[in-house]
Amino acid sequence: MTQSEGTGEPTRRDFLYIATGMAGVVGAASFAWPFIDQMNPDASTLALASIEVNVESLEPGMSLTVKWRGKPVFIRNRTEEEVAEARAVALEELKDPIARNANNADAALATDLERSAGEGKENWIVMIGSCTHLGCVPLGQAGEFGGWFCPCHGSHYDTAGRIRKGPAPTNLPVPPFTFVSDSVIKIG
Ligand code: FES
Repeated sequence: MTQSEGTGEPTRRDFLYIATGMAGVVGAASFAWPFIDQMNPDASTLALASIEVNVESLEPGMSLTVKWRGKPVFIRNRTEEEVAEARAVALEELKDPIARNANNADAALATDLERSAGEGKENWIVMIGSCTHLGCVPLGQAGEFGGWFCPCHGSHYDTAGRIRKGPAPTNLPVPPFTFVSDSVIKIG
């Protein structure tokens, strides 16, 4: 009898199978580690956690889309009309009354000032360009409120990036950013 079925005792061949199987598992584990280790962010990847963008050439009414941490970020130098339009909206009219600006308090309300780059820089708006419904990239200066429009399922954002109509539940989020000089924005 060469197999263990009859006696329940492992044979030499069974032992070899088991031993080979074990070596395979150990080999796979030690082989996988270098790849896993490489997936930890190194210094150069962490440096990309923030980017600096020169916005000197953006006149009022012009926008720029940059990529930050794999996501599109809209930077817009808004016209006076766009700012005035956003300011004229009462908070009660907003579907999402929270500013969702990473630079301000969590509970800050979605006034135009709280959504913008702040006092003295109200014309600037910086937002993650990913529709809060299912993540499509909205089109700029489109839709019923002259801000951004997501054609995927029809979400309309106003000139402050606040959701006004359609299935998107919340305003376009404002990432952490700061002006490091008059013409350079650091995001992240
Ligand atoms: S993903 Fe924008 S409306 Fe659905």
